[in-house]
Amino acid sequence: MPTMKAVRLHGYGGPEVLRYEECPRPEPGAGEVLVRVHAAGVNPVDWKIRAGYLKGYLDYALPVILGWDFSGVVESVGPGVVGWKAGDEVYSRPDISRDGAYAEYIVVRAPEIALKPKSLDHVHAAAIPLAGLTAWQALEAGGLTAGQKVLIHAAAGGVGSFAVQFAKLKGARVAGTASGRNQAFLKELGVDEPINYETTRFEDVVKDADMVLDALAGEVRTRSWKTLKKGGILVSILGPAPEEEAKAHGVRQTGVMVQGNGAQLAEIAKLVDAGKVKVILDAVLPLAEAAKAQEMNATGHTRGKIVLRVI
Ligand SMILES: NC(=O)c1ccc[n+]([C@@H]2O[C@H](COP(=O)([O-])OP(=O)(O)OC[C@H]3O[C@@H](n4cnc5c(N)ncnc54)[C@H](OP(=O)(O)O)[C@@H]3O)[C@@H](O)[C@H]2O)c1
Repeated sequence: MPTMKAVRLHGYGGPEVLRYEECPRPEPGAGEVLVRVHAAGVNPVDWKIRAGYLKGYLDYALPVILGWDFSGVVESVGPGVVGWKAGDEVYSRPDISRDGAYAEYIVVRAPEIALKPKSLDHVHAAAIPLAGLTAWQALEAGGLTAGQKVLIHAAAGGVGSFAVQFAKLKGARVAGTASGRNQAFLKELGVDEPINYETTRFEDVVKDADMVLDALAGEVRTRSWKTLKKGGILVSILGPAPEEEAKAHGVRQTGVMVQGNGAQLAEIAKLVDAGKVKVILDAVLPLAEAAKAQEMNATGHTRGKIVLRVI
């Protein structure tokens, strides 16, 4: 049986439970594609799963390969796959209930892949799918349109850095929160109203927003209600907010759980290749250092994205 190197989780816990090891190489089934992974994005969900925070919501048969964000080259396709062939350079946010991309190979369903942006190498492309799709789907859920105002929390992070750029492309006015060290960076991304959460309470300066993108929950969410205009919407990517809280403020709320979507990734690739969307990399580490990469991400202060280089 062919094997591959992967980072697998055998039991829940700290970064030390991750094992970089040899394991069986998967085979594509009907409707699936086998991809040689060149680079894998690191996301907060990776270490949240590792730590056991999502047990019950995601029940894996261990060991499981972590990481649901990658760019690579199609190795082979399973029966019934149309439109993809060996050698295609693709990127994807695969189904999180299956083995992930901290590995030399991954099997993914064909509708979840898209051609990666031609203008990017695999390391930069791997930074896009999960955070980019989350930002895309959150702005869609909020119905953001030209001329509206959106408050984007954690605007310097993985999701936030894409959400800012997508919101600007939609013609919206963007307020965004980050620490002092990221204020100039927020401006570079296109934030119209950067807010330093270390010195300013965002609810004191943001009024009448049409939408809030809540990437922090907790007290940040609670304080966000009053920044919305009546009828505005809070879109949370950390589970829906209590409906009664939204009602009490005369606003709406919804939660977004990112879905793999090759068609949306193809749209994003077009924007990247047109020079309209930039990918921000905080750090690139080898696959064998996945544990270190997760620790870095778990500080909560990644600027843009952290990526694992597989090849
Ligand atoms: N629902 C879904 O499908 C979905 C998808 C993706 C992500 N998520 C979740 O959404 C959250 C954000 O994900 P991510 O990938 O963007 O995380 P991330 O890249 O790790 O976010 C890091 C950013 O958060 C900022 N930050 C930290 N504390 C802040 C505060 N009090 N106010 C404003 N900004 C603050 C940091 O800026 P400073 O360094 O300047 O503090 C940093 O740039 C995570 O909890 C993740 O699990 C959910």
